[in-house]
Amino acid sequence: MNRGFGSDNHSPVHPWLFESLNQVNHHHAPSYGTDEFTLKAILKIRSVFDWKDLQVLFVFNGTAANVLALKTLCQSYQSVLVSDVSHLNVDECAAPEMVGRVKLIPLPSKQGKLQLKDLKQALIRRGDQHFSQVAGISITQPTELGTVYSPEELQEICRWAQAQGLFVHVDGARLHNALSFLKLSPADLFNKYQVDALSLGGTKNGFLFGEAVLFKKEHPEALYYRKQITQLPSKTRYIAAQFLAYYERQLFHEIAEHQHQLAQLLEKGLIERGICPEYPVQSNAVFVKLEPQWIKEIRKSHFFYVWDEHTKVCRLMMSWDSKVEDISSFLSQIDSLQGGLR
Ligand SMILES: Cc1ncc(COP(=O)(O)O)c(C=O)c1O
Repeated sequence: MNRGFGSDNHSPVHPWLFESLNQVNHHHAPSYGTDEFTLKAILKIRSVFDWKDLQVLFVFNGTAANVLALKTLCQSYQSVLVSDVSHLNVDECAAPEMVGRVKLIPLPSKQGKLQLKDLKQALIRRGDQHFSQVAGISITQPTELGTVYSPEELQEICRWAQAQGLFVHVDGARLHNALSFLKLSPADLFNKYQVDALSLGGTKNGFLFGEAVLFKKEHPEALYYRKQITQLPSKTRYIAAQFLAYYERQLFHEIAEHQHQLAQLLEKGLIERGICPEYPVQSNAVFVKLEPQWIKEIRKSHFFYVWDEHTKVCRLMMSWDSKVEDISSFLSQIDSLQGGLR
């Protein structure tokens, strides 16, 4: 596969994160999260999110983080409101239902975001024994379409959920992209918006692998659920070490800023060529409709995915290692395809 904009999963491991693996690779250490590095990483995450009671559970991948979060917050007779385009709904092969025993209720979304009016409409038949009871909402921040819920939108949804006794879960596979775009502190999540659980991504941000589930308050049963869903890492220290480096070395901020700058550069170049992105470019993704012949041609040198086979909307993702030159050469190819008009 050539370099390109396929996914932030396609890039290699960030060297500082690789180095963090080496740093914990010298001694024997207790397993299953009882080692000193895991404790250090948990304390670091608690301080970054400024929530001292935060329960932090490391897992291998993002699907597991979502499943563990929802399984812990829901009984088997309950359901969760999600957006129709959410990863939970369309890209987890029904793991939430199969493994988590949680029913998802997909709702229409606008630019990837759930709308309060739809959430309100979906909150029906409470107390009706025939109907799976809505227990909470899961929002993805940034969304799968690269857009970001504004502070007002977040506030509105969280306030309403709390008033209704619903939990709020955030799928933050790329959380820092959103926080950096909004200039929000991670501390706002639990303090200001009072979210109940967060799936905190690592893999898409330069890690080898590893994600975390953060619960605002301790759920003792989550430990057992993690084991039951086969996601208790025996050598947890290797995930912990990456999170430590990610936060101690300010990589979370640096990577998010870099990706957004490049996404904006690409957006600008496309607009100058008369090609307008489908959604506001607010994180590391640019969605754009391309001619079918162009897709075939450009993908020979810059790999990317066609997001929607019907509309030919393509997704161009920036990674931590994306470069200005990647953007310039992509744009030059567009120039040649546009017939050398420029
Ligand atoms: C928003 C979002 N959540 C969760 C995941 C799940 O991650 P994984 O593929 O590690 O299970 C992804 C992966 O693409 C994602 O984009």
